[in-house]
Amino acid sequence: MLLHLQTWEEVETYLNRSKGIIIPIGSTEQHGPNGLIGTDAICPEVIGRRVGEVADALVGPTISVGMAQHHLGFAGSVTLRPTTLIAVIRDYVVSLARHGFERFYFLNGHGGNIATTNAAFSEIYAETSMMRSGGNAPAIRCRLKNWWENPGVKRISSELFGDREGSHATPSEVSVTQFAYPEAIKRKSMGPIGPKQRDFADADDYRRLFPDGRIGSDPTLASPEHGARLVEAAVCDVAEDYRRFLAQA
Ligand code: NI
Repeated sequence: MLLHLQTWEEVETYLNRSKGIIIPIGSTEQHGPNGLIGTDAICPEVIGRRVGEVADALVGPTISVGMAQHHLGFAGSVTLRPTTLIAVIRDYVVSLARHGFERFYFLNGHGGNIATTNAAFSEIYAETSMMRSGGNAPAIRCRLKNWWENPGVKRISSELFGDREGSHATPSEVSVTQFAYPEAIKRKSMGPIGPKQRDFADADDYRRLFPDGRIGSDPTLASPEHGARLVEAAVCDVAEDYRRFLAQA
């Protein structure tokens, strides 16, 4: 159930049976020669919507621009600076908390969001934990879950792609977008896989080290069929994780 396709009365009715909401969070950034700019937003959105169906959960609007400063050396990439993203997450949660939502499950598609999202959770908790009468046990709970960090997804990625998965513009995430948007599949030949991982400081440094945008990956292996398997596995694991999150006292 998508929040933006409900009426306010339907949301009130939902709140009588659940205080939880799933919020996909991603990024708008280059994903190598054949990966869509929206890859990191598309993946959690596609998976989150299906989780919403199987877990009877509301799914909020996707936060589709994230913290992607290091990708700005490539055309089309957009970023929020960390302080802006913290403010966006905080205002999103506080708005919904006013209506009675208490469990905020952020389904993430971008590694670069992790530190900032966790900092946003601390800002949200601070409002309660620093209140004299609030103690440090806030009613609001937030969880950040990376869609790719599930046993089922990891097993399939490793079986299909092995050490050609890499860590950015991976065949797994490109497969999920090809499953979601087969009309937008790009065919592109690529050079050999570059360095697997190197420290980089920021956008210019990243572009110099990883000239076509990939990090250690071979996204020519992507296919919509692989994407279908990955989505199915992710939905299964994430729905289970979401239910556990709601059940926490
Ligand atoms: Ni990505």
